Amino acid sequence: TFVVTENCIRCKYTDCVDVCPADCFHEGPNFLVINPETCIDCSLCVQECPADAIYADTDVPPDQTHFIELNAELAQLWPVIAAASEPMAEADMWIDQGDKLQFLER
Ligand code: SF4
Ligand code: F3S
Repeated sequence: TFVVTENCIRCKYTDCVDVCPADCFHEGPNFLVINPETCIDCSLCVQECPADAIYADTDVPPDQTHFIELNAELAQLWPVIAAASEPMAEADMWIDQGDKLQFLER
């Protein structure tokens, strides 16, 4: 499966949503996750993300592996997002800031 990692937080560009053929993305207040039960491993979303936040679960950076479990957990709680929407207002300011897990809203 594929996994959304930290750099999506407070950015949520949603470009990933439009290319996903399987409606895998679930939306929270300031982050998206991929449902590991519906992802068909097509990898189309990876290059669409302006924040480079999406990785194969086998390729997640070592300091981000907790996002694998977090995607699975939050996908059960959050609704599917079916179409792209506007990025968060300050997305361009927050991209690549690092250490953003502290800002995750559920
Ligand atoms: Fe959707 Fe493909 Fe990305 Fe999985 S890898 S979330 S199926 S676009
Ligand atoms: Fe997040 Fe990138 Fe999608 S910032 S909403 S994973 S395009």
